[in-house]
Amino acid sequence: MGYLDTSVVVIFGGSSGIGKECALLFAKHGGQIILIARRQAELEEVVNEIRHQNGKAEAFIADVTNPDVLHNVAGAIKDKYGKLDVLIYSAGAFHLSPAETLDIQIARKVMDVNYWSALHVTQVFLPLLRTGSQKSLVFISSLSVPCTPAFFTAYAAPKHALHGFTLALRQELAPDGIHVAEVYPGPVYTPLIEEHIHQAMYRVPPGIPVINPETVAKGVFKTIMKRRKELVIPKRLSVIARLSSAFPCLIGSYYRLSIRGWTKGLQVADRKVNGADSETVPPAEPEFLEP
Ligand SMILES: NC(=O)c1ccc[n+]([C@@H]2O[C@H](COP(=O)([O-])OP(=O)(O)OC[C@H]3O[C@@H](n4cnc5c(N)ncnc54)[C@H](OP(=O)(O)O)[C@@H]3O)[C@@H](O)[C@H]2O)c1
Repeated sequence: MGYLDTSVVVIFGGSSGIGKECALLFAKHGGQIILIARRQAELEEVVNEIRHQNGKAEAFIADVTNPDVLHNVAGAIKDKYGKLDVLIYSAGAFHLSPAETLDIQIARKVMDVNYWSALHVTQVFLPLLRTGSQKSLVFISSLSVPCTPAFFTAYAAPKHALHGFTLALRQELAPDGIHVAEVYPGPVYTPLIEEHIHQAMYRVPPGIPVINPETVAKGVFKTIMKRRKELVIPKRLSVIARLSSAFPCLIGSYYRLSIRGWTKGLQVADRKVNGADSETVPPAEPEFLEP
């Protein structure tokens, strides 16, 4: 008997990374997994993997930024399963740029996926979630909320917006017994960041490990089982997260003191910023590191 044998679990962003690993893990605990994302081949691969291990899974192709499609998917899930127990919002987009040259169109797209669609998904799926027994709603946030580094404007701003949304929503839904949680992973090795990590604009300071998506999935599972409000992953970064939330200037000092050449890199970015392409600002890592 699995913990989730009678549960219907919807995972937005289930075609890849953290969402995919949540799907594989939650299926092992007996849940009926419903994956939602845009790429058919990737979705089918996850569904087949789960079924191959005798799990229960199906997928819907949907762009979270398309409201009509979200309503259709929610209707189809209601007709087929009649309820929803757990919703995990793991759809996400990522972009790095100096704020001064940030392409507003790109920033809007990131905001659409990381914030507006999370809000809209909540509105569309809440009536169905109310009919479930577990009633858990989990947003995959980011360590960049408590610890926001330079160049993360486009990514961290929607995650901060999502944080504000979650704080209010949790209070609104508490009387109905609906659990609302935010999970804050540090850097996770997934397709979202693999091109960017360890490049000039995405330096990882000492003491911050790059974790795998399976670790995050385990954290999401615990968060739901224990009905926790929030979880920093890995857990040992909770102290840094709390300190940085209380004293936001600490994060800049930490980067400056722990990464050789960081301040020079910021200066180089500043000099190159006008008219420069965001892909080339600041310079690649070797130049970044030279004093
Ligand atoms: N990787 C990290 O370092 C890290 C750290 C902290 C937090 N997070 C957060 O974790 C979440 C998952 O990211 P990940 O690292 O697992 O990245 P990922 O492997 O790139 O997964 C992103 C997922 O979002 C889906 N998605 C993107 N745009 C979508 C859209 N318009 N409509 C529907 N689905 C969409 C993608 O599916 P399709 O492309 O098939 O649509 C994919 O399944 C994100 O919210 C991210 O911000 C990641």
